[in-house]
Amino acid sequence: MSFDRLWADLLPVGRSADDGGYHRYTWAGADTDARAWFTEAATTRGLDVRTDRNGNLWAWWGAPGPGAVATGSHLDSVPNGGAFDGPLGVVGALAAVDELRSRGFTPDRSLAVGVFVEEEGGRFGVPCLGSRLATGGIDPARARGLTDAAGTTWAEAMAAAGLDPDGIGADPDLIGMFDVFVELHVEQGRALADTAHPVGVASSIWPHGRWRMDFTGRADHAGTTRLLDRADPMLPLAHTILAARALAEEHEARATVAKAHITPNGTNAIPSLVSAWLDARAADQDALAAVVDGVREAADRAARDHGVALAVAAESTTPLVEFSHDLRDRLAGIVADRVPESAGPVPILPTGAGHDAGVLSAHVPTAMLYVRNPTGVSHSPREWADPEDGRAGVVALADVLSDLLSAPGRTT
Ligand code: GLV
Ligand code: MN
Ligand code: MN
Repeated sequence: MSFDRLWADLLPVGRSADDGGYHRYTWAGADTDARAWFTEAATTRGLDVRTDRNGNLWAWWGAPGPGAVATGSHLDSVPNGGAFDGPLGVVGALAAVDELRSRGFTPDRSLAVGVFVEEEGGRFGVPCLGSRLATGGIDPARARGLTDAAGTTWAEAMAAAGLDPDGIGADPDLIGMFDVFVELHVEQGRALADTAHPVGVASSIWPHGRWRMDFTGRADHAGTTRLLDRADPMLPLAHTILAARALAEEHEARATVAKAHITPNGTNAIPSLVSAWLDARAADQDALAAVVDGVREAADRAARDHGVALAVAAESTTPLVEFSHDLRDRLAGIVADRVPESAGPVPILPTGAGHDAGVLSAHVPTAMLYVRNPTGVSHSPREWADPEDGRAGVVALADVLSDLLSAPGRTT
């Protein structure tokens, strides 16, 4: 199977020599190299590669047009991310095309293999930005103005990559071509690890979001300023992080503060400003609201107690996604054909991770296949899937695509 070769080709692109982590950020360096790799690999296969108005790449097997089946994932990473989150679905899609061809399969419909930009929000802060833009889920003017850590805007970075930022926004002509979208992805938990199933099917994505909190205090000397005279923004942040943890425990949710900028970031200077980001997720909207509202209250109280000003802004919110039940069950039936009955039913899994498939699901019948992750670790250089399971994922995707590409009329 071509999967191993494709995987080995992409593996070094953007991998850190230190610990094997990936640094692929939209419109720059390794992400650009990975996109070039995709274009080359797809073109070599005779696929017609097009860049949509938002910078997402689409490699077409057959003519673009209504009634198409779409698959794919993303190539960007979180800071120091793993090899599999995103690339598995892109490499897997190309390998699935090879697999279908090696079976002598002739599609009745066109297939589009997509690479979405900025899925992780690793550079510009809003995750699934490429799919949000294409589906009209974010105001293009807001997207153009998003900045990276150096203050470069999305518009500037996109223009530097040779694309037109004035053209970004809802792309109903493209999205309207897709009858169905299926994303192959590494599992980001251990739900498959102790089963006899290398591949599972997605049921839902927890509602989630990102909130920026700016605590503005007063810069002063760490040695000479009396404790009572300080307005130290680190203190309310510390309270807020602990409150987020307690609220997540109370509501069986997730709440994480993993990114913070401290100004001026000197050991012996009380900061003037601390910006921190809350990532919160929960099984339902009420639980998520309870966590986020609780964190905001705790932050407000702590800021007041310490004489610090606080501004909170939602940077992205994503509602609960319930994938199409018909499609989910159809995929589970197809995947089941490759596993012995003794393995039991194909696992149908909810996840706390966001995906472009989730964003698309409000517009197109959408499904996801997960490949077993033996440790469950993700967003880390230690993220892993056994090659054998990766190949099983490709076979599952090829089986699913052969079914969808053969079906007459709308697929769901
Ligand atoms: C994307 O991987 C996310 O859920 O943060
Ligand atoms: Mn991810
Ligand atoms: Mn991903």
